Amino acid sequence: MKAKEKPLTLVPPSEGKASSVFETLSTLPHTPLSEKFRDLGGVNGLALTLEDNRDFVVIEVGADVRRSIVAVKALRERLEDGAVLLAISDDLITLNDVRQLEGAGATKVLPDSISADDLREVVEALTVKERDRSGAPYHRPLGKIITVAQTRGGIGATTVAVNLANELMQETGVFKKKTTKRVALVDLDIQFGSVASFLDIEASDALHQMGAENTEPDALFLQQALTTLTSGLSVLTAPARFMPLDGLTVEQVRAVLELLQAEFDYVVVDLPHALVDWVSGVLEMTDRLMLVTDSSVPAINSAYRLINFFTEDHRDLQIDIIVSHEKKPVVLRKHHTAASKILERPLQGWLPYDPVAAREATDRGQPLARAAGRSPLARSIHKLGQTTLEALSSSTPVVKKETPHV
Ligand SMILES: Nc1ncnc2c1ncn2[C@@H]1O[C@H](COP(=O)(O)OP(=O)(O)OP(=O)(O)O)[C@@H](O)[C@H]1O
Ligand SMILES: [Mg+2]
Repeated sequence: MKAKEKPLTLVPPSEGKASSVFETLSTLPHTPLSEKFRDLGGVNGLALTLEDNRDFVVIEVGADVRRSIVAVKALRERLEDGAVLLAISDDLITLNDVRQLEGAGATKVLPDSISADDLREVVEALTVKERDRSGAPYHRPLGKIITVAQTRGGIGATTVAVNLANELMQETGVFKKKTTKRVALVDLDIQFGSVASFLDIEASDALHQMGAENTEPDALFLQQALTTLTSGLSVLTAPARFMPLDGLTVEQVRAVLELLQAEFDYVVVDLPHALVDWVSGVLEMTDRLMLVTDSSVPAINSAYRLINFFTEDHRDLQIDIIVSHEKKPVVLRKHHTAASKILERPLQGWLPYDPVAAREATDRGQPLARAAGRSPLARSIHKLGQTTLEALSSSTPVVKKETPHV
């Protein structure tokens, strides 16, 4: 079994010894790096803890055990069912205090002298136990799905999908070597998808096989289907072999996305231009759709028709219009205002025409940020990443569903 996703929280700030426990916990698989060593400033930080929907909290028992018992109780009341609440104490704690901490809601009280191996074993056992108790797999907040569509061929939709996925990882640190978010990119342009060549990776046959054998994807499927780049980005490519556009079912597509949502913070989907049946499965799970277009009359007409189609069955779908091949004007021109009025939404993002940078990135098989980081196009994509993140964090969270853990 794999340890669950667990933004780790230490309450109150570590007084020393427990930080080694924390260190070990943070080495377990799939711990978002950014969440390590978070200092919430004691019990007053609880509101923050809970806003973030944590499912794995570590509390250090301070010298005043009473205070820690109150903190455990307060935390437990706000945590979701199945969340693990570990209390780390020094060896001097009395049996009675251990009982009280457990009675208040600590899943387990552990000594700060525990060895790394023992700690791993305990966490492993706990996560299984909690899973069994609630009768459902562990929940972490479901990953957000960002879908990219186009109003015409060649306008830059795949460029947006690939580079937005790269931005959503939120690379930090020296040489941008650390990423804080787990991101998957899925090329559902199953016949003409070009994500694999944009990133210079080999196309996986997984989607072709799933379609041909008519199987439901499972965790194993996903493991085998995904290619993970050195940047940390996980990619499910379109198959190299030709498959019919209707070779996938709505259920299969939905299942793939559910598996990915359970495992990743963000899932970026590159849609085909054609409106095939299973696209509705993607739309119903989409948190935000980027419609990439230019501002010409035919493209805006297509955008209008597409928005009507997309929202017919998915009324609440959030759609952002991304104007490609055009720098953001200082003042909107007449045709921009008209387009915005017809589409009943602002022209949200602008990507300049920048063939040199675009070519450099595709030739090198790298995201723009890496291949041409200072280019106007890379800068605009970065901005788009920022506004998308802001928009996603302010939108209502998707209702949690029970999905198997990969
Ligand atoms: N803003 C831009 N300026 C210049 N060239 C661009 C820009 N965006 C993308 N390109 C280039 O245009 C070509 C098509 O881009 P891309 O594949 O992203 O478009 P698409 O809409 O996904 O096309 P398709 O219809 O093939 O799926 C690529 O060679 C890409 O590098
Ligand atoms: Mg494309």
